[in-house]
Amino acid sequence: MQLSAGVRERVAAVHRGAGLSELLQRYDGWAGRYERDVAALDYRAPYLAVASLAFAFPSPPAEALVLDVACGTGLVARELHRRGFRRLHGVDGSAGMLELARGTGLYVQLQRCVLGREPLPAPAGRYDAVTLVGALGEGQVPSSALPELLRVTRAGGFLCMTTRCNPSNRRYRAELEAALRDLEQKGAWQRVLEQEVPRWERATSEEEENGPGSGYISGVIYIYRKCPVPPPELG
Ligand SMILES: C[S@@+](CC[C@H](N)C(=O)[O-])C[C@H]1O[C@@H](n2cnc3c(N)ncnc32)[C@H](O)[C@@H]1O
Repeated sequence: MQLSAGVRERVAAVHRGAGLSELLQRYDGWAGRYERDVAALDYRAPYLAVASLAFAFPSPPAEALVLDVACGTGLVARELHRRGFRRLHGVDGSAGMLELARGTGLYVQLQRCVLGREPLPAPAGRYDAVTLVGALGEGQVPSSALPELLRVTRAGGFLCMTTRCNPSNRRYRAELEAALRDLEQKGAWQRVLEQEVPRWERATSEEEENGPGSGYISGVIYIYRKCPVPPPELG
């Protein structure tokens, strides 16, 4: 089935170079249609990321305190809930998206927070797991926010992140992976999983496809585990 021009335009709008404030306003405006549009895109990142986190997670999920960063309307919370995670906090920079997340009733706590501009509203070492799905990308959450995700994760806790591999996100992905490796080399965390998924979501244009005629872009899931003794600069 063809993607409608409206879906293409709304998706393109949040991936088109804009300042962060403008981007978050676009999300505010998109919130009411977001879930319908991403269903048309065959967007499976929340399902794929949470399946990977649940596979790696060693303890009973019902007891784990999880922070869903850039939670959007709550698609990640739905997947976490399905897999037994019950103690969910969420943050997002868009008030419109947060309103829909609140409506799901799945989060114990929701707060507005703009990553890259302000710290996460949590003390160090608070969470057993932190998720960031669908928002590590050009113009959205900068890779410089990774230390902040680590700060709020407890030693031995898990971080589950995703990014897209389409051509217009190539530069961001390279930057992100350099930052991921740098933190690993410093002993801040250990990589548990890095998996590229070919049919991540439908491409909105031929130029974005991961292979001629595939119709899809690929994406990557990263799972890291925080080391018990942080390097001094991240302590
Ligand atoms: C594509 S949606 C993903 C939402 C959800 N995680 C999902 O997978 O459905 C991206 C979300 O990231 C949020 N976002 C983007 N950049 C952000 C930033 N710098 N700080 C906080 N939230 C941000 C947007 O408001 C939006 O809700």
